[in-house]
Amino acid sequence: MTHAFNRPIRKAVFPVAGLGSRFLPATKAIAKEMLPVVDKPLIQYAVEEAAEAGITELIFVTGRTKRSIEDHFDKAYELETELEARGKHELLAAARSAVPPGVSCCYVRQSEALGLGHAVLCAEPIVGDEAFAVILADDLIDAQPGALKQMLAAARAHQASVLAVQNVPRDSTASYGIVSTQPLDDRNEQVVGIVEKPAPADAPSTLAVVGRYVLSPRIFEEIRRTPKGKGGEIQLTDAISAMLAHERVIAHRYIGQRYDCGAKLGYLMATVELGSRHPEVGEAFSAYLQQRQG
Ligand code: G1P
Repeated sequence: MTHAFNRPIRKAVFPVAGLGSRFLPATKAIAKEMLPVVDKPLIQYAVEEAAEAGITELIFVTGRTKRSIEDHFDKAYELETELEARGKHELLAAARSAVPPGVSCCYVRQSEALGLGHAVLCAEPIVGDEAFAVILADDLIDAQPGALKQMLAAARAHQASVLAVQNVPRDSTASYGIVSTQPLDDRNEQVVGIVEKPAPADAPSTLAVVGRYVLSPRIFEEIRRTPKGKGGEIQLTDAISAMLAHERVIAHRYIGQRYDCGAKLGYLMATVELGSRHPEVGEAFSAYLQQRQG
């Protein structure tokens, strides 16, 4: 039993050191998390979801080519002065809105790409002995309230770590962490096993973990003990599996639509969906899509 879930959860870790190789050459010099869906980079959707859930400390675990992320959440003095001088107030507000009010950012460098577990462990000195969230920005979740807010409510209610899950077709289990569970209540199940990217024939279920985690600080100890797993990387999934022997972990079926923006098809779907609802271009874009079909 952990007491970490009695206190509000204020810290979120954003592992952003991945190579983004599925989007080359677009991601040769910029981070995949900086790819825009309409007019906001993926990482900003993730940050806004965190802020809405009450997160106030954003911890980015960065790597090579990720300077663009630090610049994005920094003050852009030259740009702001220029926009101010030209009286472009709306654009100025847009440039300033990258960091939600009351939120602070810090950066840890993951010097070697040793896997998601290792990336999370890099944040330990800043997270300390508190429960915290992990958000993978390439999973864009369109939800109201946001997926993380839904998960924090589940973590509070069950006083336990929470993984966001959704059902996937059996032929895609090898792309996800897959859980086996026992029913608890409406949207929550107790995790009894978790395995990283099993082949369809070996998968214990088709319930897949998507890129949102609320974790007990015990995870750090487990990651430190976790040997290299799938793909020769230190997997967060394996550390969660080890944690099951000591603490309860909940699989939460959030309400919302997830787009896998780490892949081209999901990224295009998110662009169409959010583009057709965009306050500035939504109407014209929807009309264009309809005209194309007809
Ligand atoms: C990671 C995790 C996997 C999880 C997935 C969600 O994999 O290792 O367990 O299901 O994120 O997007 P990746 O997609 O980074 O290979």
